Amino acid sequence: MRDKPIYVTQPVLPPLAEFVPLLEQIWDNKVLTNNGPFHQQLEAALCEYLGVEHLSLFANGTLALMTAFKALRITGEVITTPYSFVATSHSLIWNNLKPVFVDIDPVTFNLDPRRIEEAITPQTTAILPVHCYGLPANTAEIQRIADVYGLKVIYDAAHAFGVRQADDSVLNAGDLSVLSLHATKVFNTFEGGAIVCKDAKTKQRIDYLKNFGFADEVTVMAPGINGKMSEINAAVGLLQLKTVDESLTRRLEIASMYRELLAGVDGLQMLDIPDTVQWNGAYFPVFVKDTFPMNRDALYQHLRSHGIYARRYFYPLISDMPMYRGLPSASPDRLPVAQQAAAEVLCLPIYPALTFKDIEQVCDCIVSPLKAAQMHALELAEHEAEDLDAEIALDLSPNRPELVFHPLNKSTSELDRG
Ligand SMILES: Cc1ncc(COP(=O)(O)O)c(C=O)c1O
Repeated sequence: MRDKPIYVTQPVLPPLAEFVPLLEQIWDNKVLTNNGPFHQQLEAALCEYLGVEHLSLFANGTLALMTAFKALRITGEVITTPYSFVATSHSLIWNNLKPVFVDIDPVTFNLDPRRIEEAITPQTTAILPVHCYGLPANTAEIQRIADVYGLKVIYDAAHAFGVRQADDSVLNAGDLSVLSLHATKVFNTFEGGAIVCKDAKTKQRIDYLKNFGFADEVTVMAPGINGKMSEINAAVGLLQLKTVDESLTRRLEIASMYRELLAGVDGLQMLDIPDTVQWNGAYFPVFVKDTFPMNRDALYQHLRSHGIYARRYFYPLISDMPMYRGLPSASPDRLPVAQQAAAEVLCLPIYPALTFKDIEQVCDCIVSPLKAAQMHALELAEHEAEDLDAEIALDLSPNRPELVFHPLNKSTSELDRG
C-alpha cells in the first residue's frame, strides 16, 4: 500500500500569490457578481482561447445545460446517450423533457448516429450527444440527421474543453455546446460552466435566462434561473488560462506514457484518437476485456488495495438508474454497447501533477495480476513439461516474448519532470 493515495484526478490551482491581488480588486470595487469585470474579461478570453464566437459563463455545467434547453425552447423528447454523467439526463428532467436513450458507438463511446433515426418520433425536438472523455461525437453525421428532421443539437461538451477537430473547435458543432468548468475538469474555475453559441441574439437570450429572465430592470422575458458565475470564480478562471496549455500538454504526455506502458498488455482496450482530433487528455479510460486475468471490478478493487483510486466512469449507466430504468428506451437489450462499456470501463488517474513514478506504479499494479496469471500458467506448464520431451519443455521457456512486460524506454523516462 502506498503512503500517499493516487486519486483519479487532482485539480490544477493557480499560485495563491497571484490570486490575492485579484481578491483585493474585488474587495475594492465591491462587485461580486452580475456580469462584473472579471466575468466579462473571462468570457472574452475564453472566446479567444477556444476559438468560438460567443460564450456565456455559468455557476456550473448543470445549470448551463438546463438553461440551454430553455434557450432553444426544446419540448417533448430528446435523444441522448445513457453513457454519461447523470447531469446529462437530469438536465432534461428538470426541463420536463423526456430522455430517449440510444446506444453508443463501440469505438468512440459516443452516441451512435446509426441508431438515432429509429428513435425519432413526432415528439422529438432535439439531440443531446456528449463528447465523452473529450473524444468528439460524430458531429457531421449527427448534424445531417438533425437537418433532415429539423432537430436542434445541443452538445454536452463538459469533457471537451480545448478539443479541436479538422482544426476547428468542437464547441462550434451543433446549435449550442455546454462546458463544465468543475474542479475535476481540464480547465476549472472551482465550480463553473458555460454555453457556447453562434450569434449575439442567442447569447443575449441565454444571458437573460441565467439572470432570472431579466431583460431590463422591469422586464422579465422568461422564467429564468440564477445561473451566474461569481467574480471570484471568474478571477480564478483568468489565472487558470495562463497555464492551461501547459496542463493540456502534460495530460497528453501522461496519456502517451500510459499507452506505451500498457501497450503489451493483453485484454485492455484504450481510446482510439483519430489523427484529425486535437484531444485534451481529459480522462484515460481502459476497457477490461475477457482476456484480462481479472474482471473490471476485481481490477478496480486490486488498485484500491494498493492506494490507487481509479473510477468507473460511466457505471452504472444512466438508463439503469431508478428514475430512468422504466423508460422503454432504457431497456438493457436496446443498449448492448453501452452496457458492455459500463461493465468494462476503468478510468485511470490523469492530471498534470501526476509524476512518472506514479504512472509507473499504476501500470505495475495493473500488470501484476497478468504477470501472476502468466507465472501460474508457466508453473503449470513446467510441471506438465517434466513428463514431456525436451523440445516441448524448451518451447515453454520464460523468455517467450508474450510473457515479457514491455520495459520503459528512455524517451518515456525523459518526459518525467514531476
Ligand atoms: C458529461 C457531463 N455533463 C455534465 C456535467 C455537469 O457539470 P457540473 O459538475 O459543472 O455541473 C458533468 C460533470 O462532471 C459531466 O461530466
